[in-house]
Amino acid sequence: MPKSPRPASFFPSMGSHEPTLRVMPQVADANIHGDVFGGWIMAQVDIAGSIPATRRAGGRVATVAVNAFTFRQPVFVGYLLSFYATIVKTGNTSLTVAVEVYAQRQRMEAEVVKVTEATLTYVATDDNRKPRPLPPE
Ligand SMILES: CC(C)(COP(=O)(O)OP(=O)(O)OC[C@H]1O[C@@H](n2cnc3c(N)ncnc32)[C@H](O)[C@@H]1OP(=O)(O)O)[C@@H](O)C(=O)NCCC(=O)NCCS
Repeated sequence: MPKSPRPASFFPSMGSHEPTLRVMPQVADANIHGDVFGGWIMAQVDIAGSIPATRRAGGRVATVAVNAFTFRQPVFVGYLLSFYATIVKTGNTSLTVAVEVYAQRQRMEAEVVKVTEATLTYVATDDNRKPRPLPPE
């Protein structure tokens, strides 16, 4: 098994956690200059955030709000993006998730930069798409 170019602990705020999601943007995800569309990144962030939300909710969730979203650095085709999603707050039916996105710019190099951070709120929903209380932990 080839060694990872950089231990996960390199990601400053994530300790040794594994990413929730990893994905590499392709040509179709970018404009003619190779800049990845912000909307594509937002979609991936929403998917990453929904993963711990769905697990904690024990079933389906709906995104009710994007509370904050900051694009800190540009993202280009071919970057390896790692998404780290952490539940930061729970309510009766809702969960708020912080998502941080790090980019490895060159596949064989260790340099990693934080490119995006966001906070989203999800609501646990029932079969009728109505809010339902979160199950006990
Ligand atoms: C999500 C949805 C089911 C919530 O239904 P609702 O009747 O508005 O729910 P409520 O007003 O009872 O609020 C439910 C929870 O969401 C929270 N909430 C509602 N709006 C919020 C907002 N703008 N920001 C943060 N939290 C919010 C409430 O505080 C409540 O949390 P709590 O139960 O933990 O106290 C409904 O709004 C919906 O279906 N929205 C569309 C979802 C969707 O399609 N998402 C994808 C968009 S592409």
